[in-house]
Amino acid sequence: MYGVLALALSALVLLTWQVLAARADAAADDELTHEANKFRAFATSAEAASFSRPEALLDRWLQGNLPDDSEALFSIVDGREYHRSQGTPPARLDTDAAFVRRVGGATEPSYGWADSAAGKVRYGVIPVRLGSAPVRAHLVVLEFRDVIAQPSMDAARALVLIGAITLVLAGGACWLVTGRVLAPIRQLRTTAERISDTDLRRRIDVVGKDDVAQLAGTFNTMLDRLEDAFTAQRDFVDNAGHELRTPITVIRGHLELMGADPRDQAETKALLLDELARMNRMVDDLLVLAKSGRPDFLELGAVNLTELVVEVVAKARPLADRAWRVAGTADATIVADGQRLTQALMQLVSNAVRHTGPGDRIEVGSHLDAGGSVLLWVADTGPGVPPADRERIFERFARGNDQRRTDGAGLGLAIVRSIAQAHDGEVRLAPGPGARFEMTLPAAEEAMAR
Ligand SMILES: Nc1ncnc2c1ncn2[C@@H]1O[C@H](COP(=O)(O)OP(=O)(O)OP(=O)(O)O)[C@@H](O)[C@H]1O
Ligand SMILES: [Mg+2]
Repeated sequence: MYGVLALALSALVLLTWQVLAARADAAADDELTHEANKFRAFATSAEAASFSRPEALLDRWLQGNLPDDSEALFSIVDGREYHRSQGTPPARLDTDAAFVRRVGGATEPSYGWADSAAGKVRYGVIPVRLGSAPVRAHLVVLEFRDVIAQPSMDAARALVLIGAITLVLAGGACWLVTGRVLAPIRQLRTTAERISDTDLRRRIDVVGKDDVAQLAGTFNTMLDRLEDAFTAQRDFVDNAGHELRTPITVIRGHLELMGADPRDQAETKALLLDELARMNRMVDDLLVLAKSGRPDFLELGAVNLTELVVEVVAKARPLADRAWRVAGTADATIVADGQRLTQALMQLVSNAVRHTGPGDRIEVGSHLDAGGSVLLWVADTGPGVPPADRERIFERFARGNDQRRTDGAGLGLAIVRSIAQAHDGEVRLAPGPGARFEMTLPAAEEAMAR
């Protein structure tokens, strides 16, 4: 932008300069022609006829002619400088022997360019002949072209100066403006550079409401999300490590204490296998959770809701002696991942089993509401969840404070929630008595369309 401005200004100055120079040349030519015509008119006048010698005629002419400041006239007689016009010319060419020699031999009127102390000179030479006598005398007219051009050149110089000042000022203004515009972007860049995954707390100051401020705002929002994600990830890894350490410690302790008694060994073996199974389950659960954010988490297909519920109850029945119920089945087929839905329901069922006793009722049901959204639920007649834990239990590694807490890792409900969310749905705990967990999946038509 600035370069274009500089180029345009330079081109303008150069062009103006050339136009002015050409004009000065033309003005010098005009003056020369004018002087020559004047002399020619005089030379053919009656007055001139009275002179018998050319030098007298030339003297008369030089006396009667006052040249401009940028002009000079002189006569050459017999190849030598003879007389010159009045006034002080810008430079003397009549005393320049080489010039006088060059123009003094002319037999025809001629003109040309010469150099002088006052710059370029446009000259014209007019040979003077009286009657048929050979040429002995010349009138030389000098137009000092650089002197004529002086005022224009002064104007051009002023133009150059103004152009240069304008350029400097425009450059300064550009520098200031771009500096101010770019400052927030520079800050954005330096902040972004300083941020590493260990220091995600830094934020950019948002000043004003312009585009740059909006950009900074968006950047900050992105950082919020990144920080949340990193914190969650770190907590998750911390918790997983912590949870896995417990069974490892148990296994190690038992192996160290194991004696040589075969009965003792059999007991320890059973215990260790149990502990390993628990670990295995936890690792499987962790893998499910880790995979839940990925696009290939779900394998969609047609899922019949009646079949789904009946199957879950059939699978659950051998787990424990409970009063199992299929409570309401929606006779509908939806597009979903049947295996993941079964997995979610089985997590809920295993929780229900854990919090109920023999003979207690556990029901599994499905329902399709008028809007087409699907409701899946597992309810039991156990003690239910204390109000303080209602939200917390859905988090990873969150367990209730009841007696059975050592049993699980607290991943079950987190898995249920991620499966619901992967289906664009959600899971919630409905008000008691007992515990009733409900999964809502969005309108079946929508699911079909996907
Ligand atoms: N049906 C229920 N009745 C009462 N409390 C429940 C019920 N289901 C879950 N909870 C409470 O919610 C907590 C979290 O359940 P979640 O399934 O996430 O973990 P967990 O069952 O303890 O362990 P995991 O499922 O990993 O084996 C449980 O510890 C329990 O306190
Ligand atoms: Mg559970």
